[in-house]
Order: sequence, then C-alpha cells, then structure tokens
Amino acid sequence: MALLVLGLVLSFAAARFYQQYPVVQRNYNMARISGVWYPIFMASDNLTRIEKNGDLRIFIRNIKLLKNGSLQFDFRFLVQGECVAVVVVCEKTEKDGEFSITYEGENKVLLSETDYGMYVTFYMQNVKNGTQTHVLALYGRIPELSPAYRKRFVITCQKYGLSPQNIIDMTNKDDCWW
Ligand SMILES: *[C@@H]1O[C@H](CO)[C@@H](O)[C@H](O)[C@H]1NC(C)=O
Ligand SMILES: *[C@@H]1O[C@H](CO)[C@@H](O)[C@H](O)[C@H]1NC(C)=O
Ligand SMILES: *[C@@H]1O[C@H](CO)[C@@H](O)[C@H](O)[C@H]1NC(C)=O
Repeated sequence: MALLVLGLVLSFAAARFYQQYPVVQRNYNMARISGVWYPIFMASDNLTRIEKNGDLRIFIRNIKLLKNGSLQFDFRFLVQGECVAVVVVCEKTEKDGEFSITYEGENKVLLSETDYGMYVTFYMQNVKNGTQTHVLALYGRIPELSPAYRKRFVITCQKYGLSPQNIIDMTNKDDCWW
C-alpha cells in the first residue's frame, strides 16, 4: 500500500513536472529555441546511423536563431576516437518550423514539438545516396529528464512510424562534454 501510494505520488510528480510549460506543436517562437540543449533520446529506422560511430549520432550543444531566420546548431561527434566540433546552419524554409540542410546527404529538419523550457523534439528526414532515413531527437534543457519524457517521445516516434525498438537513450552518453 505504502509503495502504491509512493508510486502514485511519483507519477503525479512526473506528470506535473512534465506540464510545467505548455507544449507547442506549431506557430513556433523560434527565438525561444535558442540556447543550450543536451541530447536525451534519438530514434531512427536505421539504428546503425545513430549508434556508436554512426554518421548521424550527433551530440548537440547549442542552438542559435540567426537574424535571417536560419538555425545554427553547434554539436560534437566522435571521429575515430576524436571529438570534432561542428557548426551547421539549417536554412529556413517557407514552412513554420521547417528547415533544410546538406549534411551526410540532404535533410529536411522539422521542429516537431517543444515547451521551450524543458525539451524540444526534432524530426529529420535524411536522403543519402538515394536512401531515405528517418531520425527523431529529443533534447533537454538539463542533462537528465524524468521518465515522462520517454513516454512522450515514444508517442512522437509512433507518429513518424518508428517503434520503441528504434529508440536509443543518449542521456549522459556524450563522450565529448568538456
Ligand atoms: C543503414 O546505414 C548503414 C550506414 O550508413 C548502411 O550501410 C546500411 O545500408 C543502412 N541500412 C538500411 C536498411 O538502409
Ligand atoms: C543566414 O545566415 C547564415 C549565417 O550568416 C548563413 O550561413 C546562411 O546562408 C543565411 N541563410 C540565408 C537563407 O540567407
Ligand atoms: C550509392 O548507391 C549505389 C547503389 O546502391 C552504390 O553502388 C554506391 O556504392 C553508393 N555510393 C556511396 C557513396 O555509398
């Protein structure tokens, strides 16, 4: 009984924590996306590309909204055991929250949802040498998020046709944090 009550209290805490800020799925205020982010989850229909040594295993550090509306991403990734810092600019398109970038192929990057204050989820469609790959990534404002965010991410993944087996936990996996 005590355990059950504790469980309830914890899940209420998680739920309330989650709804601390309203979730936005359109009409984004891109300026509020700017700042520091930590990788929490990634998912892809080709896990090879987001697992260790994958070309899309990206450890984001910072997002910046540029004056012309494009988004600058600062990230790190491991190349043969060495951390490489990369800055890329995702060009704004005419659609709200949609960007494009050439990186390991041609990419369409979509802001899927965010509450600005705790998390942001991006969807990316990559076409490399004629092969299409879907990638989803959830980033947090803090290095670790409560399990409620994983549930939310699972639902978002389903919307894009990805199952929980396609998800990898990136929490504290960043070998390049210095
Ligand atoms: C997954 O990605 C790897 C690495 O890029 C590639 O060699 C492989 O063919 C891809 N698999 C599928 C099913 O596209
Ligand atoms: C926006 O500005 C960035 C940085 O100056 C630049 O790299 C990018 O090409 C610009 N995009 C457009 C569409 O002008
Ligand atoms: C691109 O795909 C073709 C056909 O699948 C393959 O023969 C070729 O080696 C690939 N090129 C690269 C750079 O992966």
